[in-house]
Amino acid sequence: MASRFESLGELRGKRVLVRSDLNVPLDRHEDGHSTITDDGRVRASVPTIRELSEAGARVIVVSHLGRPKGEPEARYSLEPVARRLGELLGQHVAFASDTIGPSAQKTVDALQDGDVAVLENVRFDPGETSKDDDVRGAFADQLAQLADCFVSDGFGVVHRKQASVYDVALRLPHAMGQLVATEIEVLRKLTVDPERPFVVVLGGSKVSDKLGVIDHLLGKADRLLIGGGMVFTFLAAQGHEVGRSLLEDDQLDTVRGYLSRAEESGVRIVLPTDIVVDNEFPSGDREPQPRVVPAGEIPSDGLGLDIGPDSARAFASEITDARTVFWNGPMGVFETPAFADGTRAVAQALTEVDGLTVVGGGDSAAAVRKLGFDEGAFGHISTGGGASLELLEGKELPGIAVLER
Ligand code: 3PG
Repeated sequence: MASRFESLGELRGKRVLVRSDLNVPLDRHEDGHSTITDDGRVRASVPTIRELSEAGARVIVVSHLGRPKGEPEARYSLEPVARRLGELLGQHVAFASDTIGPSAQKTVDALQDGDVAVLENVRFDPGETSKDDDVRGAFADQLAQLADCFVSDGFGVVHRKQASVYDVALRLPHAMGQLVATEIEVLRKLTVDPERPFVVVLGGSKVSDKLGVIDHLLGKADRLLIGGGMVFTFLAAQGHEVGRSLLEDDQLDTVRGYLSRAEESGVRIVLPTDIVVDNEFPSGDREPQPRVVPAGEIPSDGLGLDIGPDSARAFASEITDARTVFWNGPMGVFETPAFADGTRAVAQALTEVDGLTVVGGGDSAAAVRKLGFDEGAFGHISTGGGASLELLEGKELPGIAVLER
């Protein structure tokens, strides 16, 4: 057994509560069944669960799915995810239709050594996400009663102070799972003396989601490449018209501040010089009509949906000569092939880097898989969106702090 579980003692016959992050995107069909559109997080959860099962533990997996409002909602049920976990593990996975109720108790009682069960979505109980320590604690007490020890392996959620992430660890002997340990090790390499040039590529829709990380990285990275929907706030901050593209007016001053700070500190912020626009956001009802325009000449009815080909080439060459690259957020609406080239060029460039490459965030990880890249071509694909950004910001993450105490 690996040393990180030593604190838990002999695991055979023990009930081990594993907090995984099985929060995966699902397509819901009219007949009520769902299909997982990207099972990356389920696959990433397998090694720890398998390791515990092979050690003879009775494994109880707890996770959230989506953001239900503290009560059961069929569309957020973990049942299809539990089925997928069973396929990947190659063994039967029991499913409890509640989290701390009679079904959970019965399912746990029936476990034999090496068996695995998944409990229903932990966010169906308001105690999980409550801001009140006592309410959360009371729920954590009940979760803790189901098990003898706790393994924290849901990296995507370690930035949340929630009952199954934080409070349970205060109540049970605990250890880090493989996934959390690997994620922390790799992401901390980016914050402590990264090999240079250190290039950060940021995309995704909102600049307001990335303020903390931009702020922090302005003092660390050599170059910051910006694409995705957030780039239009940067272009507007430079005085360009952005048509009907996504724009966060309330962030213009902040972004202007970043641009001048970058100049003072010698960090290069690289923005696209051309943009792929259309008049409508892609939908199934209309064939896309992409056209490329200079970044400073987006027409008033144009909607920027990807970085243009010149920018894709320029971004790729900024990336390939780096020794460390962190990429979070797609460059465009990659789900539609007409607007996927910028994201594809960035992903391709990462595979050519001679050094450490890290893909962070649910959307960029999903993009890499959807565009058909071999996951092994990247140094590390993080399962955490918000969690990986907060770690890079240097913030203390409650779900890690509680384990390291
Ligand atoms: C994620 O998707 O980033 C994690 O599963 C956390 O989900 P949350 O943002 O709903 O807490």
